Amino acid sequence: MSLNKIKIIWPNGNCSFEEPNSFWLDAAKKAGISIPTGCLTGSCGACEIDVNGKTVRACIGRIKTSKEKELSVEMSTDPYW
Ligand code: FES
Repeated sequence: MSLNKIKIIWPNGNCSFEEPNSFWLDAAKKAGISIPTGCLTGSCGACEIDVNGKTVRACIGRIKTSKEKELSVEMSTDPYW
């Protein structure tokens, strides 16, 4: 395992390790997590997830290195989707 990989904790409790700068949507797919999508261009918000409490649009968002070394993902609950 590369030292640069970041530990991701998914909503189902599973963990995976991803390279910084990977797209969230790709990382979720590899981990078997299904994130709803719409536009895939970053404008609709259907793919929003919360990463350590910050909302990220998974279709355009990339995994950033973090001081915490570990990122916890929750599905955003948007009443409009
Ligand atoms: S799918 Fe529309 S913002 Fe990501």
